[in-house]
Amino acid sequence: MDPKYKRVVLKISGEALSGNGKNIDFDVVNNVARQVVDIHNLGVEVCIIIGGGNIWRGRSGGHMDRTTADHMGMLATVINSLAMQDAIENLGAQARLQTAIEMKAIAEPYIRRKAERHLEKGRIVIFACGTGNPYFTTDTAAALRAAEMQAEIILMAKNVDGVYDSDPKVNPNAKRYETIPYMDVLNQHLTVMDTTAVSLCMDNNIKICAFGLATEDSIRRVVCGESLGTLIC
Ligand code: GTP
Repeated sequence: MDPKYKRVVLKISGEALSGNGKNIDFDVVNNVARQVVDIHNLGVEVCIIIGGGNIWRGRSGGHMDRTTADHMGMLATVINSLAMQDAIENLGAQARLQTAIEMKAIAEPYIRRKAERHLEKGRIVIFACGTGNPYFTTDTAAALRAAEMQAEIILMAKNVDGVYDSDPKVNPNAKRYETIPYMDVLNQHLTVMDTTAVSLCMDNNIKICAFGLATEDSIRRVVCGESLGTLIC
């Protein structure tokens, strides 16, 4: 099947990578990597942003200084990104990891034009450390990198299979939206993505598709145009 998009940003939440009682469940990591390589083989240019919530969340810091807690979260994204880079390369594709905070012994620094060149050369690019700033989330990093890299869509692979009008874990009658405008997500305070990220996508006309990572082959199916999850546009 032909892909619907030429360039995508895939955002994986850190929690989605955990499972079987482990912070990083390699069955999940390998499943994501396989789908990434599949869509890459279809000719799609893929940038990946991974959260860090399976290892550390800024808000788990309690009374800690917020900036320090956020720095710990950024380091958590590097751990997840290294695992993903390794899994992708084990499948025979090339991946390059760039970090928003320099740690040159571990990865390349984020340089947009170099990331662009990697995509041109058929590599998958992973961006770690979020935006490199405290008080921002990896959702905002996904929106920022999608704007910088001129991606058409952000694929939000999550533990929940879309955007609902109320919490489906609490309300069994919660209704899933097939599509929803950015403004409604903001006005209704729907928690699919933080508001900074949604506004950035709205201002730059970047679509967001939120879908469940657990749905079989969901990443590939969304890229090929199946209407899984919820499209925010
Ligand atoms: P081209 O020059 O476009 O072919 O890209 P390339 O990534 O193959 O070449 P480069 O010589 O830039 O990098 C070779 C390897 O070193 C790649 O795996 C890069 O990710 C890695 N690399 C490049 N710069 C850095 C860096 O600053 N730190 C670390 N740790 N690795 C780097």
